[in-house]
Amino acid sequence: MHRSTAASARDDDTAAQRIEHAALIEDAAGVRVRFDDGTSYRFHGFWLRDNADDPTRIDPGNGQKLVTIQALDLDQRLAACVVEARGQTLAVQFADSAHVTHFDAQWLRTHAYDVASDLTSGWLPSDIEPWATCRDELLLSTAWSDLMAGGDALCSWLGTVRRFGVGRVTDGPTYSGCLLDLVEQFGFVRETNYGKWFEVRSEAAPVNLAYTASGLQAHTDNPYRDPPPTMQLLYCLADAADGGESVIVDGFAAALELRRRDPAAFELLRQYRARFAYRGADGVQLEAQHAVIETATDGELLAVHFNNRSAATVTDVPYDDVRDWYRALQQFADLVDEPARQVEFKLRPGDGFLVDNTRVLHARAAFRQSGARWLQGCYPDRDGLLSTWRVLRHRLEEQTSS
Ligand code: FE2
Repeated sequence: MHRSTAASARDDDTAAQRIEHAALIEDAAGVRVRFDDGTSYRFHGFWLRDNADDPTRIDPGNGQKLVTIQALDLDQRLAACVVEARGQTLAVQFADSAHVTHFDAQWLRTHAYDVASDLTSGWLPSDIEPWATCRDELLLSTAWSDLMAGGDALCSWLGTVRRFGVGRVTDGPTYSGCLLDLVEQFGFVRETNYGKWFEVRSEAAPVNLAYTASGLQAHTDNPYRDPPPTMQLLYCLADAADGGESVIVDGFAAALELRRRDPAAFELLRQYRARFAYRGADGVQLEAQHAVIETATDGELLAVHFNNRSAATVTDVPYDDVRDWYRALQQFADLVDEPARQVEFKLRPGDGFLVDNTRVLHARAAFRQSGARWLQGCYPDRDGLLSTWRVLRHRLEEQTSS
């Protein structure tokens, strides 16, 4: 399931590695580095040059490259390599330069690329953990005030969102639009035709089924956009209704289970794209195509897009495959609907949850229309969230080490 070698080396937060030995190889076109955990990796001379802290090639201020890719000599030779600082540093001198570059041992270890990669379609980075049933981390709610304080609690919460695709908040305020205050702690909201946020409550003549009192099958939001929203925050302002529990399902776990049970079905949903459309309001005609199971060119499982209410006419699956594609979609839907996969909780006023909308599907049980139920939702972008998480982690690590 996980990419077992390269990604694991990258994501390990274990104690700092030291270099035991380094030697030039391949007529000085590379170096072999042996670490004190017994691992050994080769690095090309040109790769080291591409990452060298040479201020004529990389801006020391922002780390951006100052030269074109053609400026890199793919036959770059090394003049010398020396292990320094009791194994914490590798000093490298390139054959055509007097400049000596120092590579941090831990940096080399975590960026090693001389590894056998498992590129089985559907692999996941090791810091993403699929869940097929409820687990303790999914039941935890972090207090609004702790998240607003930033620091440790916010960092930990964002880490949970990264690992499990969901984070819950409790004991927050109940004024309209307050969900944007939470988003400000970690990123930015994507504005859509619904505005900066949208209302979720029952209406007499709804323009969208989410505004009625009926139950909804677990889904990802707005696959008719390109790109679809990467995160969704749903926040409760009032709830005197019976029912209406929120439900979340890990689409990654469902996709991987489909792959286990029926690899051909997984492949069909990965290979062909579905169409999604929304034309429910005046002046809006959104259309997009996404594979129900989306993978990168190297096979990493990137996203699931599942929302039958927004499904448009299927025209991109060839005649000979289309019945099997529909069958595969039904199988995936059956997995999504399995009660054991569904984690259910009640949102009280001041509670909310954030989901990775490219991974975790959400649903709502039916509720009694006469009760007052008022949620607001918005679509924060994931890149900003992950950026904040990395910055906070870095700061906290620096505080710990100083
Ligand atoms: Fe939704």
